[in-house]
Amino acid sequence: MIELRHVSKIFHLQKPVVALDNVNLAIEAGEMVAVMGSSGSGKSTLLNLMGGLDRPSQGQVLLGGHDLTTLRDDALTELRREKIGFVFQFFNLIATLTALQNVALPFLLRGLARGKSEQKALALLELVGLSGRSAHLPDELSGGEQQRVAIARALAFYPPVLLADEPTGNLDSHTGIEILTLLRQVREQFRATVVLVTHDPAAAAHCERVLHLKDGRLLSDSNRKF
Ligand SMILES: Nc1ncnc2c1ncn2[C@@H]1O[C@H](COP(=O)(O)OP(=O)(O)OP(=O)(O)O)[C@@H](O)[C@H]1O
Ligand SMILES: [Mg+2]
Repeated sequence: MIELRHVSKIFHLQKPVVALDNVNLAIEAGEMVAVMGSSGSGKSTLLNLMGGLDRPSQGQVLLGGHDLTTLRDDALTELRREKIGFVFQFFNLIATLTALQNVALPFLLRGLARGKSEQKALALLELVGLSGRSAHLPDELSGGEQQRVAIARALAFYPPVLLADEPTGNLDSHTGIEILTLLRQVREQFRATVVLVTHDPAAAAHCERVLHLKDGRLLSDSNRKF
């Protein structure tokens, strides 16, 4: 589903920063993979490349057979919208929109009518167990609830790939486990491929495979099964 071939990413500032250094990796459809490593080891960079949010300096990134590195920006944007759901540490919800409106936004942006968009959004909120909070603004929700809303939004077009950058990084451990359980449900229900960045070994334990990055290199890859 996701393949990286000799991928490097170098950021050129005053002096070049090698964020990823010749990473080779294949993730099959339906896998749930944790990416671990210390701060600055390249985890977010890796996730952003997998999701087509950024382009590698060298190498190829393939997603569902498409080579992201050869796609033009507009085609990449389209592919990202169709195939990938993103979840972030700070939820990235729009503060002035209710939970329902936040989840409805991807549909509205796609040109769907408001009523239909909100109907779909409500179904997604139900899926994440939050239909009772649809009229709440983000700051009227707990952290865990905000992350559920963000996950519902990420699922708008039932993407085959869900990428989560420290989705539990801002939550207490109990709420974190609830979010991981939800991600696992999502993965089973939609047969989605899930890649999540985490610092938390307890979170990584929810994944059947754990990758370790160090200084931009893939240090280890456990194909651990339950
Ligand atoms: N846009 C950028 N411009 C320049 N350097 C960057 C950029 N993004 C990341 N880097 C550098 O690349 C390296 C890897 O960064 P990355 O954000 O991938 O680390 P990370 O493993 O996600 O860290 P953290 O756990 O702190 O989130 C770091 O040294 C960082 O300073
Ligand atoms: Mg990061």
